Amino acid sequence: MSVGRFREEVIAGLSLQQKALPSKYFYDARGSALFQAICRLPEYYPTRAELSLTRAHLAGITRFARRGCTLIEYGSGESLKSRLLIRSLRPSAYGPVDISADALRGACARLAREFPWLRLAPVTGDFSRPLEIPGIEGPGRRVVYFPGSTIGNLTPEEALAFLRMTRGQVGPNGAMLVGVDLKKDAKVLHAAYNDARGLTAAFNLNLLARINRELGGNFDLRRFRHYAFYNAALGRIEMHLVSLARQQVKVGRHRFGFEPGESIHTENSCKYSVAEFRALAARAGFRGERVWTDRPGRFALHGLVAA
Ligand code: AVJ
Repeated sequence: MSVGRFREEVIAGLSLQQKALPSKYFYDARGSALFQAICRLPEYYPTRAELSLTRAHLAGITRFARRGCTLIEYGSGESLKSRLLIRSLRPSAYGPVDISADALRGACARLAREFPWLRLAPVTGDFSRPLEIPGIEGPGRRVVYFPGSTIGNLTPEEALAFLRMTRGQVGPNGAMLVGVDLKKDAKVLHAAYNDARGLTAAFNLNLLARINRELGGNFDLRRFRHYAFYNAALGRIEMHLVSLARQQVKVGRHRFGFEPGESIHTENSCKYSVAEFRALAARAGFRGERVWTDRPGRFALHGLVAA
């Protein structure tokens, strides 16, 4: 990810009426480490729920995607669940796409050791725009794996555009496996994004530290507070950073003023019922063929096929 684009998006976001920053920039080295730690917190259920449903339904998921397919994964990160899938699916090629070059390098080294037979075609990039993935052309069916409810970071309109792009990429015989966090009791959601140890707060505030370091910013992290709440009308968790004072902040040559209580919107995490997500996928040219959930019904993995 180029610093130029990071700078442009930060300046543009902080110039909005409701200040906002793209959540994809959370994942520098420290942000990625914090996110991994969040995944192990008792309050943060999505990672465990998705892992357990993937284990429980691996045979069905494999039958759906079909052995020998070409597997493309968006936002692969640690590739924990992908290893389960690769072992069972035996894909003819695996193309992980991730914004973090470090995470990708580490994951590929591990995969090469564990699966010496596997053809790896990693791509460092931002999957919010169409991507070429060299090295995955082959006869096999293309299956895009998009776990982790990363799709929840997009608004429904953005998710629709993303699903349409993916539908074009997998072609008429293609399929998609998408992990989607389900709507649930607001208290459970609230706890997951306001953990007792404060790791989510540190993860959110780290975005300002990254701007300071990489873009010459002077955010005082003690003068912003983590704020996360469930917006029931829009079916999403919103994360914000709230200014605790009237203050001015510099990013390079640019200055931004904050009123006390004014926020920067840093993340959406949209939650969908099975029916809501299938309706969205249908508008993108996918048919919801299968869906798997964990026992308590917290998380869903959708098996979509080109309609
Ligand atoms: C990685 C985008 C799925 O939205 O739950 C965790 C990121 N944000 N805690 C999510 C996140 C706050 C996470 N995703």
